Amino acid sequence: MLKVTVIDHPLIQHKLTLMRRVETSTGKFRVLLREISMLLAYEVTRDLPLKTTAIRTPLASMNAPIIDGKKLALISILRAGNGILEGMLELIPSARVGHIGLYREPDTLQVVEYYIKLPENLQDRDVFLVDPMLATGNSAVAALNRLKEAGARALKYICLLAAPEGIGNVNEKHPDVPIYTAAVDDRLNEKGYILPGLGDAGDRIFGTK
Ligand code: URA
Repeated sequence: MLKVTVIDHPLIQHKLTLMRRVETSTGKFRVLLREISMLLAYEVTRDLPLKTTAIRTPLASMNAPIIDGKKLALISILRAGNGILEGMLELIPSARVGHIGLYREPDTLQVVEYYIKLPENLQDRDVFLVDPMLATGNSAVAALNRLKEAGARALKYICLLAAPEGIGNVNEKHPDVPIYTAAVDDRLNEKGYILPGLGDAGDRIFGTK
């Protein structure tokens, strides 16, 4: 039984369909990813605790709600994660940001880390790891390992599309980390791409192919 939250808001589903289409241009793809990422940010921050604070409006004093507690950290898996990161930062501009550079060995699909820079005090933050495509799950598992080594405890993994294989991998290695996605697709192909998917997210965001 896979543990995953599918965010099935109609706006997200509609925009995802436009992103999947092979005819969609790089410019349009980027705009859609930014918009979907804002909507994902809205959903994954739904459980942030609130407290009240005393304020004055132009007309009266009141106790008004503001977000309480831990600060947020957004961690992008390079390079495609930056597409989601940008949209989420629009809604959460004061979040700290980290980057983890990983690539997949094409033959073995194993993960190699080539860059890491993380915010301080991850143990005191809600940490959102972002990457558009959860395929084999090997990058997600490696990034979650590194974040936990750095002290992160309250983690969420946020992607656009997930394959059952990747969800199962993350569920098994990091059962404490909730996964949020806009869709769960059918399966991986022999090269580790999600089917039907949307192709190579990095290439489509940056126009490199
Ligand atoms: N990474 C991508 O960009 N696309 C996939 O389908 C799988 C991994």
